[in-house]
Amino acid sequence: PKASARAEGLLGFPAIPPSSADEVVLPPGYRYQVLFPWGQPIVPSGPAFAEDASNSAADQARQAGDHHDGMWFFPFTGGGGRAGLLCVNHEATTEQLLHPDGRAAWTPEKTAKSQAAHGVSVIEVKRDRLGGGWHLAESKFARRITMTTPAEITGPAAGHPWLRTSADPEGVRVLGTLNNCASGPTPWRTYLTCEETINKYFYHGEQPPRPGSPEDRYGIGSEAPYPWYTTESRFDMRAEPNEYNRFGWVVEIDPFDPESTPKKRTALGRMEHENAVVVRGRSGEAVVYMGDDTQFDYFYKFVGAEPIDQARAEGRSPLDEGTLYVARFEADGSGRWLPLVHGEPGLTAADGFAGQAEVLIHTRLAADAVGATPMDRPEWCTVQPGTGAVFFTCTNNTARTESVDAANPRLNNRYGHILKIDEGGDPAAGRFDWDIFLLAGDQASGATVPADQAFGSPDGLWFDAAGRLWIQTDGTQPLVDGAAQNNQMLAADPETGEIRRFLVGPRRCEITGITSTPDGRSLFVNIQHPGDSGTPDNPRASSNWPDFPPAGRPRSATIVVTRADGGVVGGR
Ligand code: FEO
Ligand code: CA
Ligand code: CA
Ligand code: CA
Repeated sequence: PKASARAEGLLGFPAIPPSSADEVVLPPGYRYQVLFPWGQPIVPSGPAFAEDASNSAADQARQAGDHHDGMWFFPFTGGGGRAGLLCVNHEATTEQLLHPDGRAAWTPEKTAKSQAAHGVSVIEVKRDRLGGGWHLAESKFARRITMTTPAEITGPAAGHPWLRTSADPEGVRVLGTLNNCASGPTPWRTYLTCEETINKYFYHGEQPPRPGSPEDRYGIGSEAPYPWYTTESRFDMRAEPNEYNRFGWVVEIDPFDPESTPKKRTALGRMEHENAVVVRGRSGEAVVYMGDDTQFDYFYKFVGAEPIDQARAEGRSPLDEGTLYVARFEADGSGRWLPLVHGEPGLTAADGFAGQAEVLIHTRLAADAVGATPMDRPEWCTVQPGTGAVFFTCTNNTARTESVDAANPRLNNRYGHILKIDEGGDPAAGRFDWDIFLLAGDQASGATVPADQAFGSPDGLWFDAAGRLWIQTDGTQPLVDGAAQNNQMLAADPETGEIRRFLVGPRRCEITGITSTPDGRSLFVNIQHPGDSGTPDNPRASSNWPDFPPAGRPRSATIVVTRADGGVVGGR
């Protein structure tokens, strides 16, 4: 009976130990299938993956991109949860693996292939029977959105002079989406993909930006790790100073209309967006929670101006008009949402914000001006079913060397923590109570997690329908007998506080991206950049997952986790 199952807790699997093996490890009774690795054609009839990386840029534009990140499964109505569209982000690339000779002798074709390996895949996936394997289908919906797909800029900043370039004098149409980190579905069945580390793609010249300038605040340095600017002038800020302002947005994609144009929703602000979680407020408006993943950056929410249904019935986007807020955490466990509205103190023309468009394009500077609380890299957030409580990860922050505060309580925060916000059931509330849900790490670091479940660098975060909180890691893990351990995924029961390790990834990957079928029996998880946890000279030296051919290369991939007995993943 349900009541006794609840008394036993939500976690129905035995915790597994840490791992440093080059393999995905799961509890007994679980298995995984590699569904969609880098280079896999998005329809079965597409161009086959070449293990030596000799696929052209044109091939790559019809294949899975690299560095799979946030994703979402949209079941077909009436499909019994056995068929639907899977949207998958491709955050970045490992250029050493993407081309036969890696980064050597850079060419326009290499820029084109790298750009085609970024963006989003929309694929149709199905299983022919319950308990059977998943596969990709020939599909009218299958598409790749890459760095060359036209996108429209919408909302209050559209057309602003800071968004105009020589290729787009109107400031409303931009080619592509970039560094698609995490994601979120909307209640109206569209997909939000979030542009994160945009500074790596734009070259400022040998002189870095002036300290305190907007470019400096957005992380532009004197180097651009991606050499695209050497073959395409829009990535050279000396030629096109505004192109970088056209990235760093939340982008909305309608996966059910393959002809649709992705929309950059400027009302949600410009930052290093992690994910975007949309819920319906009490008045039916869209409320969106978002993190800005940089050391000492902020946690945000957007509250739409009108009910979702009204906006959509009248042909407006529920995400184009509304108020953007940034979080301030007080030491007494209370907090406030500070509105980023032009004309408020600190956000006037005299402060450098001529109007709301400037507030949105320079969201970080606006948040600095109103006194938001600098956090230890706020990454994913998720909303607890039933309570509406918002949980979000602070991955880590080793640059916190001088002072702590109640919401970021550790100096040299190597391992990160997870916070919980309670808005009293009203997502549009201006105030909240907050608490620390857990401090990650080992016992020596002051972790609140039992030693046998130690983990570090919580990043991905997602509540499943039963209320299990899934935690995915990206970064430093506690050592075991002095040895480094791989990134992992755990499940927590937020009511009992119990936490169990569920999955450990292959070497030097991060675990990110999670979604499931509505019945919870197939869990999709992304394994990102096996072999490459930084800028490795030879990623193949540490990982060859998932194919293990002697001359092959490790591949980011979407896997599907199921139970041998067909039960709910993570459940009893
Ligand atoms: Fe793309 Fe903050 O991870
Ligand atoms: Ca990543
Ligand atoms: Ca992440
Ligand atoms: Ca991360």
